[in-house]
Amino acid sequence: MNSRKKLIAGNWKMNKTSADGVALVNDIVAAVGKQADVDVVVCPPFTAVESVGRALEGSEVKLGAQNMHFEASGAFTGEVSAPMLRAIFATHVILGHSERRTLFGETDELVNKKVLAALKNQLKPIFCVGETLGERESGATLKVVQTQVERGLEGVNKDQAASIVVAYEPVWAIGTGKVATTEQAQEVHAYIRGLLTKLFGDAIAQKVRILYGGSMKPANAPELLAQKDIDGGLIGGASLEARSFVELVNAAVAAK
Ligand code: PGA
Repeated sequence: MNSRKKLIAGNWKMNKTSADGVALVNDIVAAVGKQADVDVVVCPPFTAVESVGRALEGSEVKLGAQNMHFEASGAFTGEVSAPMLRAIFATHVILGHSERRTLFGETDELVNKKVLAALKNQLKPIFCVGETLGERESGATLKVVQTQVERGLEGVNKDQAASIVVAYEPVWAIGTGKVATTEQAQEVHAYIRGLLTKLFGDAIAQKVRILYGGSMKPANAPELLAQKDIDGGLIGGASLEARSFVELVNAAVAAK
């Protein structure tokens, strides 16, 4: 048991129109919109962020985006900035998701610029790290995660650090139905907390939420959420339906 409030975040990826997103959050709000025992965040695609935000008004559910540019404005065709997200009341932003890293070439250096820009604009980064199957099989998991954490959080100061959320997402578990074992997940989560302790000191490291992501479902969530250093989940597939997402929120409430 620790003092960290659990957090369940839905990463909708490239799914849901604005209207479909509003319908989904209406159901989520009706079921768990008033509870404040765990933090709940939904991260729709950009075209639905504002409409979903309006549907969340008056509830405890918070609004996030899935990506952003590190500059505030300018000639960056197709991009969206932190001040733009703040202006439509987003509070969180997923950064460095493995799909951004592998499909869109995001490097640790780029992710770091985004993390710093998010923090400067009072957006809470949900900062993602995780190893590929090849890296795990070659025994490189901890080294890979260390590099991603150290490079991704370079230049973050102690005052900012507590508002960061880290998401450990083994790439081989994302969207594959293969979930990390609780031992595998807890080992990496504890290791990440150790890295945060080195970077920011123990008091702050104890405050940072570290989420597990990768095929988290209502069936496997209770065991994962019972682990000492697993403070919630970043949910892809199971966040696209109200019933499974609400069950995950309830599993976090039960595990608190
Ligand atoms: P998944 O995705 O739950 O569908 O595995 C998690 C994520 O990519 O954030």
